[in-house]
Amino acid sequence: MATQWQDVPEALRCDIDIVADPELARDPQGCMLAWLAAETRPIAYTPHNGGHWIIFSHALAHKVLCDARNFGSFPIGVPANYQQRPRLIPLESGPDEHRRYRRLLLPVFQPAVVQKMEASVRQQACEVLDQALAQPSLDFLAEVAKPIPTRVFAEQMGLEVAMLPQFYAWENGFYRAPTLEQRLEYGQRISEHLAEVVARHREEGAGDDIVHLLLAAEVEGEQLTADEVHAIAYLLFLAGIDTVASMLSLTMLQFARQPQQYAGFHGNPESIAESIDELLRLNAFISLNRICERDIELDGVHFSAGDNVVIPSAITSRDPATFSAPDRFDIGRSRSELNQHHAFGAGAHKCIGLHLAKLEVRVVLEEFCRRVRRVSLSPGKDIAGHGGTTLGLDRLPLEIELAQ
Ligand code: HEM
Repeated sequence: MATQWQDVPEALRCDIDIVADPELARDPQGCMLAWLAAETRPIAYTPHNGGHWIIFSHALAHKVLCDARNFGSFPIGVPANYQQRPRLIPLESGPDEHRRYRRLLLPVFQPAVVQKMEASVRQQACEVLDQALAQPSLDFLAEVAKPIPTRVFAEQMGLEVAMLPQFYAWENGFYRAPTLEQRLEYGQRISEHLAEVVARHREEGAGDDIVHLLLAAEVEGEQLTADEVHAIAYLLFLAGIDTVASMLSLTMLQFARQPQQYAGFHGNPESIAESIDELLRLNAFISLNRICERDIELDGVHFSAGDNVVIPSAITSRDPATFSAPDRFDIGRSRSELNQHHAFGAGAHKCIGLHLAKLEVRVVLEEFCRRVRRVSLSPGKDIAGHGGTTLGLDRLPLEIELAQ
């Protein structure tokens, strides 16, 4: 039986609510970092959100993420979402199935393929930025951070651009509608639409968008079925838009709070490329979770089968035992230190879209820095955000001064 609150030793108890702590709505990242600052333990157990472990230590989190046999990835969610349909492929697949999916998917997301998308990503980014930056104040989230990845995603997947507002509303509803029933309903709409998209692509035959590439993917004579392509498209929809928007807006918040650092990027937008991993580390936002497959003892902690183990990458990517001066923006970190951040997870399920994600974030930030001389938070207007599995901002009011 899964661990119950009353069985957790006093020394391992905490009172953290990663979904609904009111401070998350005011400053989600600041709230997480305050929890980190207050903790000296590698792990603790909270009664909130169905009861779950929270790992603070990078080393322990890494062990869990790299042990897919003992720590499974079905179901994803905090609380664990057992009602989610279709199953998220490949994220919620067991180790053997997962290997097959990764083999078929990797060619679609490899750097050489992603590189070819740069011109189109840049064009979309420039169009959105030119419109959004026409006024001296804007909500960066609504006007830049959401529209760009949604447009890029629709084009890459061969979805109808006319449906962009609809996609935006569904995706927002899936993550943030007030009740689980409503969230599942939004998921259902996304899933039904993508089933139609996959069916249409099959009728059309060849093409070069991601759905076509997935339908045609073949490794050693093996192909994906239409149902599998549908489940993968569904995960890509959920994994490929909100994430990039969160990353862009948290990074922009960092820039707005640190004018000198921003001035350096404005003066040399090309330096974004070499800073991207450090920016990702500092702004990691996904709280990953794993479900214990069996009772297991690890680093002196007893996990029971069915336990939900949560790994907030915002916290583990700033563990001082792994990253020296972890709150400092430092592009001089060694590659081996920097590569350990958990913004994209670790182990078998490490983000397969990471090259695309980095490309999108880099291109948008480069084009923003090129155009904008000064950026600051709008006085008198608050930022707003949320916690949960993908912590992020809901509003980021900025004042900008364009370059001459
Ligand atoms: C800055 C943006 C992004 C971040 C921070 C991010 C982060 C992550 C993380 C932390 C995981 C691991 C989840 C886990 O182990 O439980 C993951 C997995 C995944 N991501 Fe991303 N992601 C981003 C963008 C994207 C994009 C653009 C795509 C594709 C369009 C994508 C597709 C996926 C897929 C398919 C998986 C599952 C991989 C597997 O199970 O093998 N992600 N991502």
